[in-house]
Amino acid sequence: MTESGDETVTLKPLDPFALIVDFRSGALEPHTSRTERRVSDMHGAYADEQALSQLVKDGDPLVYEVLQYDVPEEVGQLICCTTVLQPGTVGDEYFMTKGHYHAARDTGEVYLGLSGHGYLLLMTEDGGRAAKSMGPGALAYVPPYWAHRTVNTGEEPFVFLAVYPGQAGHDYGTIEKTGFPERVLRTPEGVVLR
Ligand SMILES: [Fe+2]
Repeated sequence: MTESGDETVTLKPLDPFALIVDFRSGALEPHTSRTERRVSDMHGAYADEQALSQLVKDGDPLVYEVLQYDVPEEVGQLICCTTVLQPGTVGDEYFMTKGHYHAARDTGEVYLGLSGHGYLLLMTEDGGRAAKSMGPGALAYVPPYWAHRTVNTGEEPFVFLAVYPGQAGHDYGTIEKTGFPERVLRTPEGVVLR
């Protein structure tokens, strides 16, 4: 039993488990769900909608996938998943995840970089913003109330592990309306946050 505010939650029984994570590929074995996002799932996220439409016509490449071993989405549980974010750009903007707030805003998250390189972009609803460079071994902390998005600025997949509370949930809709304050661009001078 665990106390959450006024309500008392009874955890469902769940056997302990151990998974194998391949740091290079992000493969998680076993996993019970796989979510993939292609360029066509990312309408509105990139500044260059014309470049996005062209990429969809040219084969609609995979942008990222999330592998997870599902546990109950409730207080007390911890959800573990790997994300494999492919290298690429839409126009001059690097491939990125949709980004989200947690539906339960008062929940944080931990990211651990496994391979490849990129950025973790963060923002709050009252104007806070941050960008953390990530590579293998980087442990990034997403505090409660901070939206988060990852960007692959390398030439190989950017792979990371995430752990977050079972009750967190995902709010993608707010990001679709507001976007993030920073865009991460490929320029002749290198990676630029603008
Ligand atoms: Fe999250």
